[in-house]
Amino acid sequence: MSTTMTTSSRVRRPLYVYLQRPDTAEWVVVGRYQRDSERRAGLYRYAPSYAELGLTWAIDPVNLPFLEAIEHIAHRYDGLHDVLRDASPDSWGQLLLRLKHDLPQDTLPIDYLRLAGNGDRWGALAVGSTPKPNVAHLASPKLQKLDDLVQELLAISERRPAVNAQLRKHLFATPSLGGARPKATVQDDDTFWLVKPGLSTDTVDLALLENGTQQLGRAAGLRFADTRHHALVGGASVVRVLRFDRNGQKRIMAVSAASLLQIQYPFTTDADSKGSSYPRLAEELRRIGAPKDDLAELFGRMIFNAVVGNDDDHPRNHAVIFDATENRWRLAPAFDVVPNPEETPKLLVMQVSTGRRDIDREAMLTDYARFGFKSRIDAEQYMDTLLKKIQSSFNEIKDMFGPDLEVFMSDRINTTSQRLAASTVQSAHHL
Ligand SMILES: Nc1ncnc2c1ncn2[C@@H]1O[C@H](COP(=O)(O)OP(=O)(O)OP(=O)(O)O)[C@@H](O)[C@H]1O
Ligand SMILES: [Mg+2]
Repeated sequence: MSTTMTTSSRVRRPLYVYLQRPDTAEWVVVGRYQRDSERRAGLYRYAPSYAELGLTWAIDPVNLPFLEAIEHIAHRYDGLHDVLRDASPDSWGQLLLRLKHDLPQDTLPIDYLRLAGNGDRWGALAVGSTPKPNVAHLASPKLQKLDDLVQELLAISERRPAVNAQLRKHLFATPSLGGARPKATVQDDDTFWLVKPGLSTDTVDLALLENGTQQLGRAAGLRFADTRHHALVGGASVVRVLRFDRNGQKRIMAVSAASLLQIQYPFTTDADSKGSSYPRLAEELRRIGAPKDDLAELFGRMIFNAVVGNDDDHPRNHAVIFDATENRWRLAPAFDVVPNPEETPKLLVMQVSTGRRDIDREAMLTDYARFGFKSRIDAEQYMDTLLKKIQSSFNEIKDMFGPDLEVFMSDRINTTSQRLAASTVQSAHHL
């Protein structure tokens, strides 16, 4: 394969896509991407060398099935394939890149992908301009540096000059993780954690709230990413979340639910918003070979979000990862589950059944079969057991919320659990 320097101005130089093999952890060229600016489309093709090695992992099991001779066309994200968009920054990382490179507000997704660097990308993909994988790894700051790291994140978010120039440089070189809030990765022994500090503009201690809620999900028996909370000396409150796309130094393939659902997020059309749905995601999980347990788990997370009032449950807040041991895609642990601190939401972002997003027992049970339940009674049993378990688990771990948030959470859980419980079921009412 030659590095074709195309003479046509509308087709840019190709970008090679690298994958860290799920089995041997070796980096290989998995494909080649090219953008056609005239058509505002992107073209992706699996590398012949990848096929020659006998490798067949799809980097996105829905949009980019492994088909050797096919040129896959992308139209979303200005022609960037969904899974490459997943490996790119969202608003926080995009801000870092605009500050670093003095970029305009309308910078293309492909440019954010290139500029974000491979040092600490989400998932197991990387990109580069050479047909040989060349992936620099940037060591994450150690946990002992948490204080300094948080100070630097806050300084950036408040547009203050660097407190620690070296850390700022590191943060600017590793902006690829998604999301809107300031974040960074720290290393604790051989585990990697996503660090999210509370901000002075927050009306409640969101880090404490996120930590408690993630711990509540775990205590209730759901598969939530593990977290720790730190109250730092300077008064900052910080949550760190165990990264599910890392196993030691090894990177794990990850794909967002937005990609699996074939929708652009942030939504740009009505179709994007309508396509964002839990039962549809359950069907995609089934289609890509995830076990039935994952479908029930997703149903459980939908109910959990309803109970705690997490209405930031958008399709970039769900993901799948490739499990090399089981050799199949699995629903990733739940992350970014944070109750709305301002008001008790009546709607979730994702549909709970066809055409409905309301936090309502009937709406959540209607599409039970799409979540893999054999009967409505099975789904009801699962739901009622979980509702009780969330209540009892809250009583066990409520201290983790601190006195103010404990009262807030207790009220929230009581209100919504009552609304969702069998005895108060109402005929499909609307808001
Ligand atoms: N535990 C984790 N392991 C691996 N990746 C994660 C983890 N938690 C979050 N991410 C990735 O980082 C992104 C941002 O994280 P998160 O959603 O927690 O941040 P946020 O800024 O609060 O997001 P939002 O914009 O949704 O409010 C996620 O969309 C996901 O891709
Ligand atoms: Mg998020």
